[in-house]
Amino acid sequence: PLIYVLNGPNLNLLGKRQPAIYGHETLADVAALCTAACAAGFETKLLQSNHEGELIDWVHEARDTAAGIVINPGALTHTSIALMDALNTFEPPVIEVHISQVHKREAFRHHSYVSLRADGVIAGLGTEGYAAAVRRICQLARA
Ligand code: DQA
Repeated sequence: PLIYVLNGPNLNLLGKRQPAIYGHETLADVAALCTAACAAGFETKLLQSNHEGELIDWVHEARDTAAGIVINPGALTHTSIALMDALNTFEPPVIEVHISQVHKREAFRHHSYVSLRADGVIAGLGTEGYAAAVRRICQLARA
């Protein structure tokens, strides 16, 4: 089974972008973490886009192919009803990941449209949050 690991705007700069908040690891490091976290028989496909529509297209693509989605929507978390609607068309498990502890930050980061759909939400565990989310999807997909 395939697990999509979707990343929204600005996460291509992970490792270079505000390292005090998001750390020094890159998205390539995240891809390696996700691969390592997969249970036997599972694989991950990590994608990143700065464009809302492209992320929505990938959610649609996942409808036919994926056992689950791990998603860090970046700032689209707080703004995108369209991304939430797309995730609502996807039946398998969805886990939302934030590298930073968004609830400790600005008030506009406290609300998430994606959380209205997600089966689990992880915030503030750094990139380890992705590994935990992948492990959880493997567990749910097996049950
Ligand atoms: C983020 C938190 C968001 O508020 C922010 O816009 C991001 C990254 C995180 O991983 O902590 O781009 O999703």
